[in-house]
Amino acid sequence: MPEDQESAEPASPLAGVDLAAVEAAVLRALAAPSDAPEGLGLRVLGYGEISLVVGWPDSRPEVACKRLPVFPSEAAAQRYSERFSNYLELLAQRGVQPVRSAFGTVDAGGGRVAGYVVQPVLDSGELGPNVLRAAKPDAAHPVLTSVVESVSGVVDDRTGLDAQLSNWAYGDGALRYLDVTTPMCFDEDGRIELDIELFLAAYPWALRGVIGRFVAPGVISAYRDPRHVLIDLAANLQKEGLSEWIPPALEVINAQVSPTVTPEEVERYYRSDARLWEAMLKLRRADRWWQRRVRRRDYPFLLPGHIDR
Ligand SMILES: Nc1ncnc2c1ncn2[C@@H]1O[C@H](COP(=O)(O)OP(=O)(O)OP(=O)(O)O)[C@@H](O)[C@H]1O
Ligand SMILES: [Mg+2]
Repeated sequence: MPEDQESAEPASPLAGVDLAAVEAAVLRALAAPSDAPEGLGLRVLGYGEISLVVGWPDSRPEVACKRLPVFPSEAAAQRYSERFSNYLELLAQRGVQPVRSAFGTVDAGGGRVAGYVVQPVLDSGELGPNVLRAAKPDAAHPVLTSVVESVSGVVDDRTGLDAQLSNWAYGDGALRYLDVTTPMCFDEDGRIELDIELFLAAYPWALRGVIGRFVAPGVISAYRDPRHVLIDLAANLQKEGLSEWIPPALEVINAQVSPTVTPEEVERYYRSDARLWEAMLKLRRADRWWQRRVRRRDYPFLLPGHIDR
């Protein structure tokens, strides 16, 4: 690439970010007895099922730092880094623009490595759920039509996408994808190429075997099925308090998939999905109690408070 073009490229979102300071603030919050990380120098932008999204610096966030479960070694972090870059590239090739994202690491002691995916912080008005909240339900809304089109463009037997509205940003007429921390690439036998063990660290040790064998592969594997991804998108509108958007969403979805997705199917899916994640969160709370009270250790994740489902 000619030099002048290279210099026109925007700086990496990691430029000027002191990840060691971010990690220190996260560790302080983890060591604190309460669940209220604010006041401890930590601004939480989102609690995912797996990653913790921190706005940094906390007084006036410029970047979103998504903390991954701690890697057991430099090599494991390196493997993740490769999968992450490949996934970003694949999304772009298939017409989905990811939010500018970079992966960075911090030494976590004992050979372990804390990893972060860092992105510029987005305006809250640009986040998918807020964009729809500010508009009237309409099957022609560009967020609906572009998200559904993106699913058709990306998802196949070896590539997954989590198309829930909270994973998209929309501004200046362009849709961007922000939930890039779980690169969903699968091998020819349908197994995810990611170290799933790593992500299972979020669950109690005694249950990891069961979850890893029976729950996680099914949950992740379903993201390779466009119809499933779109049902998940529609059902999640209910969790976001955007139920009135379900009929227009189904109109757009049903122009793409068969058999037709019915409102009843979406409702059924929503109920069972809400139960699954609620159960998983309860397991994590129980594990945290065990680690702190009985084992007298810090629990390595911040958990969300009550979630309306
Ligand atoms: N760059 C960003 N700027 C502002 N807010 C963000 C940004 N990235 C994420 N968020 C907020 O945090 C939430 C969770 O982020 P994201 O979807 O990337 O992770 P996640 O859902 O935790 O992923 P997973 O469950 O796969 O670990 C988003 O829905 C959004 O509200
Ligand atoms: Mg998400």
